[in-house]
Amino acid sequence: MKPKLFMTREIPERGLNKIKEHFEVDLWPEEAPPPKEVIIERVKDVDALVPLLTDPIDAEVMDAAPRLRIISQYAVGYDNIDVKAATERGIYVTNTPGVLTETVADFTMALMMAIARRVVEADKYIRQGKWKVGWHPLYFLGTDLYGATLGIIGLGRIGSAVARRAKGFNMRILYYDVFRREDLEKELGIKYVDMDTLLRESDFVTLHVPLTPETKDLIGERELKLMKPTAYLVNTSRGKVIDEKALIKALKEGWIAGAALDVFYKEPTPPDNPLLELDNVVVAPHIASASLETRSRMAEIVAENLIAFKEGKKPPTLVNPDVMKVRPPGF
Ligand code: GLV
Ligand code: GLV
Repeated sequence: MKPKLFMTREIPERGLNKIKEHFEVDLWPEEAPPPKEVIIERVKDVDALVPLLTDPIDAEVMDAAPRLRIISQYAVGYDNIDVKAATERGIYVTNTPGVLTETVADFTMALMMAIARRVVEADKYIRQGKWKVGWHPLYFLGTDLYGATLGIIGLGRIGSAVARRAKGFNMRILYYDVFRREDLEKELGIKYVDMDTLLRESDFVTLHVPLTPETKDLIGERELKLMKPTAYLVNTSRGKVIDEKALIKALKEGWIAGAALDVFYKEPTPPDNPLLELDNVVVAPHIASASLETRSRMAEIVAENLIAFKEGKKPPTLVNPDVMKVRPPGF
């Protein structure tokens, strides 16, 4: 008999079909996430779970699933999962790192260019019938990326992929991370500074940290006030890394020039979020990893982790290796 698995949303076929060869899959058919009560009900007799970042997988869910042995998250971030609770219960947790790095870095550059050169504002301007004069020396003046200083907070895989791109734009690159990366400093010609220096000197600040208790509200009033009034903030990490109320104040009062955001404090962000009324903000609905190829590769990695575990092997992208001391892989 195949082990049972609950999947909280449809994922691309390339991974889904492989999973179906090995597991009996109960797939939540709707676009919206299943409510927590539904998750608790559906995991009762499952051996494996495939959640998304929108699904809270805490101790309560795990305790409702006495047979659960592996949670194979379809995302690189896993702040929705209580990993400590999982490890204590001998439950393996895996994610999908690596494959989305370049795709997220591409999108980070897209947002940075969009806010700096006012692409979205200009698009709306034409569509609203406001383009009446052919060309004007003072139309839509923006900011150059070329030669500007970029501050990268979090120099992991994604942060360093952004640095590689920014180098092509001839940007001066500063970074801050809890881990210093001297190897990359040489390779990329980037400079390590403390966070306050980064905030004070950068023309663009981009966030590439995971959401943890230490990074929650990392960018608040104090940090926004350190930034230049001409600087832009870009976020493709997690919304809660920025204190959104402070950001709204900063944008309204001109402490910074603008922000480009793929992620929000609450997702979906309510249509009456004051951020959405501001012209100096570019927004996207958490789509930085959304390329067809990457979303398919993520699905394959979810499948590879599940299948390795089923075969009694260490899943390739295990988040909590300590769990192997609690229980060996396999159902
Ligand atoms: C998306 O935000 C991810 O963590 O994969
Ligand atoms: C995620 O892939 C990261 O480490 O930046």
